[in-house]
Parts: sequence; structure tokens; C-alpha cells
Amino acid sequence: MPLIPLLLLVTMLLPQASAAPPPPAPAGNSVNGRKLFVSVGCYQCHGYEAQGSTATGPRLGPRPLPFAALSRYVRRPSGQMPPYTAKVVSDAELADVYAFLQSLPAPTATPALLR
Ligand code: HEC
Repeated sequence: MPLIPLLLLVTMLLPQASAAPPPPAPAGNSVNGRKLFVSVGCYQCHGYEAQGSTATGPRLGPRPLPFAALSRYVRRPSGQMPPYTAKVVSDAELADVYAFLQSLPAPTATPALLR
């Protein structure tokens, strides 16, 4: 077999590089993020600990959506949630909120009696 088609064949058979992982979230300040979560109003629907409530908004931490998806949703939500423009929460502030969400402890199982 001539060299070029052979090389092409080999390249085609090599496993394709898998889709690139989502870019890491920008470094944020979780302490400031907690303050913003309250001052900007996220807590009103998602709770002070971003724990969520069946009536107002889902739990957001401690494993939020990838940063790009979260920021897209905050800017252009598709459901009940109001949109937040960059004037209201800048990208840097959103990175702080993201750091806060990631810093939250994982939920523990609640005994049925306490629910
Ligand atoms: C008025 C209530 C309200 C406020 C305020 C609010 N949210 Fe939401 N949020 C919701 C509801 C309800 C949903 C569920 C989807 C929907 O209906 O939009 C949601 C969904 C989300 C989601 C998508 C979660 C997922 O897993 O799909 C993210 C991320 C989010 N909110 C972040 C925020 C942040 C950050 C703030 C503050 C900047 C905020 N929200 C403020 C009500 C609210």
C-alpha cells in the first residue's frame, strides 16, 4: 500500500481525542460570593445555603452546573427565574458566587421524622 493512504488509514483508526472538558471555572472568592448571593437576591428563591426549596428554586450547591452553563442560565434563564444582566452581577461577581456554591457542604440524609 502506498504510504499516504496508509497514513490516512492509520489516522482514521486511531481513537479520536474525546470532547474537551468544560473550561474550569474562573477563580472566585467564596466569602464575597456568599455576600453577593444575599445582596443580589439569589437567596430569595434558592435559600441562604443555596439548598433550594420545592416551591421557589432548585438546590445549587455544592456541585453546581459547569460555570459556563451556570452563567448562561443566569443571563438567559428559560423558566421562572428572572434574568440577571452583567450590570446587576458582573462575570467576576458570578465567579465569586460560583466559588461560594462549590464551597458548600454536601447535603446529609435527613431522618424522615425531621423532614
Ligand atoms: C425569583 C426566584 C429566583 C431568583 C431570585 C434566582 N433564581 Fe435561580 N432559579 C429559580 C428557579 C425557579 C429555577 C428553576 C428553573 C426556572 O424555572 O428558571 C432556577 C434555576 C437556577 C439555575 C439552574 C439550575 C439547574 O440545575 O438547572 C441556576 C444556576 C440558578 N438558578 C442560579 C441563580 C443565581 C446565581 C441567582 C442569583 C444571581 C438566582 N438563581 C436567582 C428561581 C430564582
